[in-house]
Amino acid sequence: MRILYLGDIVGEKTLDVLKANLDTIKRENRINLVLVNGENVSGGKGLTQKHYKILKELGVAGISMGNHTFSKSEIKEYINDATIVRPANIPCNIGKKVLYINYNDKKIALVNMMGRVYQNTPLDDPFKTMDELLKEIKADYIIVDFHGDATSEKKAFFYEFSGKVDAIVGSHTHTQTADEEVYNNTCFISDMGMCGAYNSILGDDIDDVIRRFRTGVFEKLSVSNDSLYKINGVILDLGEKNQITRVNLKIEGRK
Ligand SMILES: [Fe+2]
Ligand SMILES: [Fe+2]
Repeated sequence: MRILYLGDIVGEKTLDVLKANLDTIKRENRINLVLVNGENVSGGKGLTQKHYKILKELGVAGISMGNHTFSKSEIKEYINDATIVRPANIPCNIGKKVLYINYNDKKIALVNMMGRVYQNTPLDDPFKTMDELLKEIKADYIIVDFHGDATSEKKAFFYEFSGKVDAIVGSHTHTQTADEEVYNNTCFISDMGMCGAYNSILGDDIDDVIRRFRTGVFEKLSVSNDSLYKINGVILDLGEKNQITRVNLKIEGRK
């Protein structure tokens, strides 16, 4: 089974780029299923129901999130019925800890986990949380989106759970790493990167971010308006012998 997993989608304009290009990307790469990280779709933070519906129209089978899961508070109203998985180690009772996706006769379990290094939000231990989830998950394939800053934490999680899940793909830094590998038949990459404005700072407007660093004044950041886009992610080829390939496309969008 060939799965396209896209890194953090930043800004709703990126949805237009996906609308215009996703079918071609899927066809050219013989993709069966599309998964995305959707924590930055709506204005750069969170996911509104309107944008969730657009992702579904695009044929996205599963959406993982991160530290911005609840940035748009309306998500609390629809997340329980949506094909969204939220970080399992956020200590709340809203949303799914595991999203099951059926494809032909196969069942995929999608898990989202947050790293604790450099994150100043209350989180349960991702290792213990994964131990517990593995006791209850019943699926043909298990995929984990590990949302965190530190490559060391991501790599430690990878070695600890290699052989027990099929893929551990990183998100959150918005910067694609070149360390994809397979160990004990588990695919890994520290970070899939992002889908959003090419000339930007992690998807946000360059001037806004520079101003923040130069002045220390934390004004609201806006999503970059650049018309060139990068589409980052990975292709997971899951079967007897799991494989991972990086995706890094440069696409001209509309102003
Ligand atoms: Fe993000
Ligand atoms: Fe994040």
